[in-house]
Amino acid sequence: MKKINPSVIARVARPKRSLIKIISSLFLLIISSQLVFAQKKTTILPIIPQPSEISVLDGSFVLSSQTKLVLNDASLKNEAQILNDFLIKNYGIALQVVSQVPPSGNCIQFEKPDWEAGWPENYHLDIDEKHITILAEGKGAGFFYGLQSLFQLMPVVAHAPNKMAPNSTISIPCLHIKDSPKYSWRGMHLDVCRHFFPKEFIKKYIDLLAMYKFNTFHWHLTEDQGWRIEIKKYPKLTEIGAYRNGSTIGLVKDKKFDNVRYGGFYTQEDIKEVVAYASERYITIVPEIEMPGHSVAAIASYPYLSCSGKQIEVEKAWGVFDDVYCPKEETFTFLQDVLTEVIALFPGKYIHIGGDECPKESWKKCVNCQALIKKEGLKDEHELQSYFIRRIEKFVNSKGKQIIGWDEILEGGLAPNASVMSWRGTEGGIAAAKQKHFVVMSPGKPCYFDHYQSKDKSKEPLAIGGFNPLDSVYNYDPTPKVLSLEEQKYIMGAQGNVWTEYINTEEQVEYMAVPRMCALAEALWTPRENKNYTNFIARLKQNSKLLDRMNVNYAKHFLVNKK
Ligand code: ACM
Ligand code: ZN
Repeated sequence: MKKINPSVIARVARPKRSLIKIISSLFLLIISSQLVFAQKKTTILPIIPQPSEISVLDGSFVLSSQTKLVLNDASLKNEAQILNDFLIKNYGIALQVVSQVPPSGNCIQFEKPDWEAGWPENYHLDIDEKHITILAEGKGAGFFYGLQSLFQLMPVVAHAPNKMAPNSTISIPCLHIKDSPKYSWRGMHLDVCRHFFPKEFIKKYIDLLAMYKFNTFHWHLTEDQGWRIEIKKYPKLTEIGAYRNGSTIGLVKDKKFDNVRYGGFYTQEDIKEVVAYASERYITIVPEIEMPGHSVAAIASYPYLSCSGKQIEVEKAWGVFDDVYCPKEETFTFLQDVLTEVIALFPGKYIHIGGDECPKESWKKCVNCQALIKKEGLKDEHELQSYFIRRIEKFVNSKGKQIIGWDEILEGGLAPNASVMSWRGTEGGIAAAKQKHFVVMSPGKPCYFDHYQSKDKSKEPLAIGGFNPLDSVYNYDPTPKVLSLEEQKYIMGAQGNVWTEYINTEEQVEYMAVPRMCALAEALWTPRENKNYTNFIARLKQNSKLLDRMNVNYAKHFLVNKK
């Protein structure tokens, strides 16, 4: 492992050029500055998100089965394996691992700086004709992100079986990249409750997130229409709550249903497998356990959790429902037990507790709820919701975790340490940041990827409504200008949400999520001054070959009309 000080990274990492080459380059520059300019302009590389600094150099590195992989630091064994796994899968070759740079060069190597500056996601990628070097701090995603950029630069071998012919080579352009993300929360969400997607698909979704350098997967696991996570202490949650006796056909307002039993859930073993898979790709999973609303499936499993205690069915329609958790001691015991199992499964800092769209009708009629309002000196049912969330926060904090909730958790007063996910526009996020609470921006416009992406709805599959085209996602800036510089620091980033009321196949999830997730990735990673939508589309056209190779059913509007 060659150790170098970051202050000399730029000098050391820059490829050496011979004097003759420098003189001839200068000569060329003088006689044909226009030509050089034109050449620069047309250098479009398929990297998404666009790195914060990139310079394309002359020449290319030629990768073949003879290329060596230099590994002299055992802590980077995983990175070396990721590289070889990628090469085996896509080109049918694995590089020989050696401990020293071979005299001939032609190697891929990892370097760590002498000291760690605390920027675990940053990396440098240097490619000259003899070496590919990724430089990053050892403890974080830096090497992984350097590899993702490198993978995107490798041409796709078009024909099946997607293997290089013996003796053929892969040409990778010489360049220097110095890269770091703009935001710390780069998230994508998926609702697996309205429609269920098996763990194999969740892994494919995570692969996509990893390719575009997202670091957070928000897994929406409980809903009115289905409870999707095994909880050992409450087996009925999945025996009863994971299945409904039919689903909505067409628009929910038409009130038409099939009567096909529908459902599914993840065992705790499945969850562990997915969490480990995500973690190997530097993605933290934020599980969402909805409360106090969107809890019909839980109440159908254990009716004592509601105010009325009446037996109800797992919901078949989409919407917002009056049967919600009653804030009584038995409910808190249940939720604490559930959260205890959830917390043991998910190593990340955040637990999402929902908090959105909780009607107060049952609470208004409930003797227990009204007595509690009186006892606690609360003003109304909004303050009762705040009481509910504060109690849950206290419990989650006692387990060393933080809560995040939809922006309704502001109503009746924010719990002391809560972070807020702003979905009803940006107002909730702005209010939370002003109160010095951390925020993830996820406003319906443009972060809801269940909305239409084309104006011509007649040519689109039925969706929930709305219109969020690719360019509006690309141009999204999560930091509201009304915030002071100090308040802006509370905006952790943003997230794209994929609600699945009207999305019932894996192909359709992909169609709705991609390429809008690519546009969001760039909005969250790339400095504003480096962003350019026309250039993004040009890169996306090249990058989409990788999506084809992954068999992703991405929406193709950008291929014809740039949107
Ligand atoms: C939400 O879309 N109900 C958070
Ligand atoms: Zn009640």
